[in-house]
Amino acid sequence: MPQERGSFVGRKHELAELSARLEQNRLVTLVGAGGVGKSRLAARTASLLPPEAFESVQWAPLWSLGSGTLLIPLVADACGLSDHSARDPLDALATWLGARRVLLVLDSCEHLVQARARGTPGEHGAAGASPCAAHHDRVESRAVRAA
Ligand SMILES: Nc1ncnc2c1ncn2[C@@H]1O[C@H](COP(=O)(O)OP(=O)(O)OP(=O)(O)O)[C@@H](O)[C@H]1O
Ligand SMILES: [Mg+2]
Repeated sequence: MPQERGSFVGRKHELAELSARLEQNRLVTLVGAGGVGKSRLAARTASLLPPEAFESVQWAPLWSLGSGTLLIPLVADACGLSDHSARDPLDALATWLGARRVLLVLDSCEHLVQARARGTPGEHGAAGASPCAAHHDRVESRAVRAA
């Protein structure tokens, strides 16, 4: 999680809305003009969630990625996941997320459209795509995309 710099102003309605949406949806996307406050809102919401809401919050800052090549390794790294098996990295990550109640924040991912076409890890597991089918009923991780 990024350190909050300065006081957080307003956004009462958006904070409540995002918390509520996270309860009901596996994937929530924040869309808005550059600098409008998407990342701050995601971070603030995560910090206000009750401890029982998620086992952990994992923050993956994606703004520095020029392409999707390192998307999965970077998200896995943000999750502290080191999988040294021969498994497909996306499968490994989706399986890891599928077994936990994690809030995964993909911060600044709007430029990775092609990579996301294959599915973000949250979508991958949430959709019960084939590698995760066995976990479908118990996938409880959630993802916020701040696009
Ligand atoms: N509710 C708020 N209270 C105080 N400062 C805020 C608030 N929301 C945003 N800011 C400040 O405005 C600036 C831009 O916010 P932020 O980085 O969250 O925007 P963003 O929409 O994620 O931008 P980008 O599209 O570039 O990723 C930051 O300096 C942030 O600290
Ligand atoms: Mg941002």
